[in-house]
Amino acid sequence: MRAPWPEDPPPGPFRPSSWKSPLRGPWLTAFLGSILLALVTIVAVTGFLSHAAYNPSLGMNAIVPAEDDLGFLLFDWPTSPSWLYALNQGLHVTVGFVAVPLLLAKLWSVIPRLFKWPPVVSPAEGIERAAIALLVGSALFLFATGVANAQIYYPFRFNFVLAHYYAAIVFVAALALHVAVKTPVILRAYRERGVLKPLRDDLAHTESEPHDPHGGLAPEAPDAPTISRRGLVGAVGAAGALLAVFVGGQSVGGPFRSLALFAPRRQSFPVNKTARSAGVTEEMTGDGWRLAVGDRSFTRDELLAMPQHTESLPIACVEGWSTTQSWTGVRLRDLAGGSSGTCFVESLQPRGSLREATLSADQVANERSLLALKVNGEDLSMDHGYPARIIVPALPGVHNTKWVKSLRFS
Ligand code: HEM
Repeated sequence: MRAPWPEDPPPGPFRPSSWKSPLRGPWLTAFLGSILLALVTIVAVTGFLSHAAYNPSLGMNAIVPAEDDLGFLLFDWPTSPSWLYALNQGLHVTVGFVAVPLLLAKLWSVIPRLFKWPPVVSPAEGIERAAIALLVGSALFLFATGVANAQIYYPFRFNFVLAHYYAAIVFVAALALHVAVKTPVILRAYRERGVLKPLRDDLAHTESEPHDPHGGLAPEAPDAPTISRRGLVGAVGAAGALLAVFVGGQSVGGPFRSLALFAPRRQSFPVNKTARSAGVTEEMTGDGWRLAVGDRSFTRDELLAMPQHTESLPIACVEGWSTTQSWTGVRLRDLAGGSSGTCFVESLQPRGSLREATLSADQVANERSLLALKVNGEDLSMDHGYPARIIVPALPGVHNTKWVKSLRFS
């Protein structure tokens, strides 16, 4: 059967001779890929852990439909250490940003393959290239939507969490296949050139890898180098290190917070959703406010008359920032009145996805889990959830419901 394309490559990037960088070759791609693998493994693991941290099997917590959920990755998210979710999300967002320059460099190193001619010569190659298209597509999608989300920029008209979750599954499967298929190339490159040896060469000693006439990334007719491989790897590493500071400061806190120039919320105690944007008014939170607990109800003064406890606990947002504050209020387990089950929490917030959450039995039973009435010794401000909010160790920020209207223990 005749191939559907002419034998001679069209002019331009389809001609192998038009790719001239002496740095491209299997070693560079294998090396950039190996570092990228370490970073994307952290990002993928923390991503799926964050999904588990929402306790999607409880109440209304699920965002992904139950039949599509990778249930084997779910488990009861622990309440200790209290900084667990802050660490998880700090890593997910910061390492995700750090991996961006590396991903771009990796894609640059393999770009001649996008213009390979003939595009496909066998059904096996067709399958491999389709898997590569899924890998590149899902990687670009995940990084673009993740970065946009962490910048609180939502240009997309689809549900971010759902799309990010499904793309992550495609990405992990395609990446596992890719690494398995490329393992022989990686091992050969390291065997022939050493794992780190090419980084020792300065510009004067930088040479092209041997060209493989059956394809391969090393160019047929390389230009003279203008940067060494270690210069390239160093530039990518420096970009990653800068991003680590510009983004990671929001998770580390303290003096580093002011360095987090790429973090959209740099205040020491950020607010994601103000009372106004949530539609919560002073009328709703004023003297007429009552907390419904099952069929009982409490005024704020009655709650303040109950035993008060103060806990220093972090609150950590899925977008990466976290901050530790001193919260005072009533223990959830004291309000549970002997019930040892879950707790369905509802907010006064009239709209939005964050108006309800279900806490697990362990989260309710933990002695540090509070219905907070004060923070740092002062009444909560409206934007921090006055008259009362949930604060539970290691719970994702969005489930620390603000402006609580009712608690239902089961
Ligand atoms: C975000 C993840 C990744 C993307 C988007 C990506 C993309 C690509 C693409 C488009 C190619 C060219 C495929 C072809 O047509 O042959 C390629 C080749 C390759 N990749 Fe990746 N890759 C990723 C991760 C990795 C990782 C983690 C490793 C190593 C552990 C790796 C090692 C390689 C190697 C060795 C090649 C072949 C180079 C050659 O043929 O000389 N890649 N990659």
